[in-house]
Amino acid sequence: MPPLLSPRLSSSLKPLLLLSQSSLAPRKFQIPRQLVSVKRRAFSSLASEQSSDNGGRSGGRSGALSPSPVAEEVQRIDVNPPKGTRDFPPEDMRLRNWLFFHFREVSRLFGFEEVDYPVLESEALFIRKAGEEIRDQLYCFEDRGNRRVALRPELTPSLARLVIQKGKSLSFPLKWFAIGQCWRYERMTRGRRREHYQWNMDVLGVPEVTAEAELIASIVAFFKRIGITESDVGFKVSSRKVLQEVLRCYSVPENLFGKVCIIIDKIEKIPIDEIKRELNATGLSEEATEGLLQVLSIKSLTKLEEILGGAGEAIADLKQLFSLAEKFGYSEWIQFDASVVRGLAYYTGIVFEGFDREGKLRAICGGGRYDRLLSTFGGDDVPACGFGFGDAVIVELLKEKGLVPELSLEVENIVCALDHDLQAVAATVATKLREKGQSVDLVLESKPLKWVFKRAARTNAQRLILVGNTEWQRGMVVVKVLSSGEQYEIKLDELE
Ligand code: HAM
Repeated sequence: MPPLLSPRLSSSLKPLLLLSQSSLAPRKFQIPRQLVSVKRRAFSSLASEQSSDNGGRSGGRSGALSPSPVAEEVQRIDVNPPKGTRDFPPEDMRLRNWLFFHFREVSRLFGFEEVDYPVLESEALFIRKAGEEIRDQLYCFEDRGNRRVALRPELTPSLARLVIQKGKSLSFPLKWFAIGQCWRYERMTRGRRREHYQWNMDVLGVPEVTAEAELIASIVAFFKRIGITESDVGFKVSSRKVLQEVLRCYSVPENLFGKVCIIIDKIEKIPIDEIKRELNATGLSEEATEGLLQVLSIKSLTKLEEILGGAGEAIADLKQLFSLAEKFGYSEWIQFDASVVRGLAYYTGIVFEGFDREGKLRAICGGGRYDRLLSTFGGDDVPACGFGFGDAVIVELLKEKGLVPELSLEVENIVCALDHDLQAVAATVATKLREKGQSVDLVLESKPLKWVFKRAARTNAQRLILVGNTEWQRGMVVVKVLSSGEQYEIKLDELE
């Protein structure tokens, strides 16, 4: 490592190095007690303020949070986040931002516009009759105005609500994407949490399979960007129209379709006898159940065509998708698998799921066509398809593959005053650099140089800019390039 300061450095800086460590050592910082324990008085005053008639608007922050001198001490709070939820300390936030950056970049490359919806929605938006798992996992409650509300478990119903609300003002096709937090009271497994972020891309207004093909292309583009290949993951693809055609053969009423799909989605999660029992209980004959299960085991499109015949929409859609996949260049990523139906009632056509080829993780992403969702909310139907891609399973996969990027904090400059009186000048230096688009970590207190260098190493600063008395009298600052150790004086105005 180069010497801290070269002999060329001004006399005003040198004495700093000679000062005893004790006078320069950072003061020991003690956490104020009120930060680690809750004072009952302060807490209850906050609570009563929130429930006051004016909706908690009265009183200032300081009023609510400053501890009362006679406050009674209570036990320490549990510092862990609620089970199944996460904090995002800086290192985790960097990974999340990296992931979201790629979600956004891919969406931008495909010409999609970003949207968002409230995390809290009306509960009714998520209640469907088909017996989906997602219904039982709902975080729902009554708000203070006696309205039934829920934390969204997914984004698709909110999208449908917004499209209905916007009505004729929208020009189709819509290509929308969103990244939002979703809540599901799940049984926790690897990559499955009670809170997760989902990247969604949806196309509305396009009845053709070109939309599904485009959506899968965007997920493939995302995988490639982050270093995941077709030997790591694949997509299982099918169409709900396959089931529809089979059920029609057995004269099963159309209104049982959603329920049957939900039961079938549990095939790998519960014993097959239980599946059969549930199908029979729904109203399917033994014969229909057996026929259905036989079709669901098919993994080849040719075989499916032999059974269903080539005339139906299911085969036509799937063939078109596989042909488009070839043109997009992702044929190796997708495979037909009749057992994929997905666990949400609203899908009507092509459905797909991203899976890891080692079979260690749950679905990485999933989506499909849902042409009739809007009418279930009283709107006019619009052909629609999309996918959801969670932030949790993909991180598990990246860990498995050793592909988690090393992301460290990076600031371009660390600016430090060598004399307390020069703190304001250091602020001016920082402002000038920030106005030129340079990031600056400004040292906000008097600190020994040793501390500043340690800090610079931690933040990966490229340059250290020191404001010392002698130089500043000449309008100069000292710049030290930390990678090479090169050091020079420069006029503040010339600092780039
Ligand atoms: P989904 O299959 O329920 O579909 O969820 C999509 C993705 O969200 C999953 O593949 C997974 O990556 C992630 N995910 C779901 N639940 C959890 C959880 N508890 N913990 C961690 N990650 C989870 C939907 O939500 C559809 N709305 C997707 C869609 C959009 N279909 C059309 N447009």
